[in-house]
Amino acid sequence: MKVIAINGSPRKKWNTAQMLESALAGCKDAGAETKLYHLIDLKFKGCTSCFACKRLGGPSYARCAMRDDLTQVLNDAWDADVLIVGSPVYFGDVTADTRAFLERFWFSVLMYNKEHMVRAPKKMPVKIIFTTNAPEFGFHKALNESVTGAMSRFVGPTELIEANATLQFDDYSKYDASMIDEADRKKRREEVFPLDLKKAYEMGRRAVEEAKAIK
Ligand SMILES: Cc1cc2nc3c(=O)[nH]c(=O)nc-3n(C[C@H](O)[C@H](O)[C@H](O)COP(=O)(O)O)c2cc1C
Repeated sequence: MKVIAINGSPRKKWNTAQMLESALAGCKDAGAETKLYHLIDLKFKGCTSCFACKRLGGPSYARCAMRDDLTQVLNDAWDADVLIVGSPVYFGDVTADTRAFLERFWFSVLMYNKEHMVRAPKKMPVKIIFTTNAPEFGFHKALNESVTGAMSRFVGPTELIEANATLQFDDYSKYDASMIDEADRKKRREEVFPLDLKKAYEMGRRAVEEAKAIK
């Protein structure tokens, strides 16, 4: 059982990364091998609209033809038994790096074909983790629906969890952030974030069980 996780946050140790690490700990405890990619470490671009992935009889049919650091990530993602994608919400969307990954991951298996719109090599469970400044789950409802909807169509049964009202910096007094109640944020960090991490851990365990059922 192979699990690939993708961190779309530029921060490799903060909220999204910690949620992903916790999900992967759950996967490992359920017996899976895991690998975490931090997109910030990689040099890549979004889809360039070359359409090589839709070229009939072409060498890249249903695969992304672009060659850069994302190539290995895309190959590993399609090779995995479970895919986990984490992103902070930026301006009501995923981060630019996450979006570039999703463009290439989804578009390469989407065909403009009347009968077979999806040419994915397989189905696998997908788990999405969003972290937000917003106070509660579902604040970015349209985003959640669009990412869950596309993943379900192109890849497999998709579940999404969030960690909300995350801690953004260690010391709020050093930043222009008077809108945010520091004491409240820190309390939440101590009381709610551990529960979010636990949710991620359990989701990781569940994902591996779901993947075994699909195999
Ligand atoms: C450029 C930028 C835009 C953001 N936009 C939003 C937003 O639209 N909605 C929201 O809830 N949080 C927003 N946030 C807050 C982050 O989503 C939140 O702090 C997240 O937990 C950060 O993840 P990280 O700690 O893994 O980097 C934004 C943060 C940044 C840096």
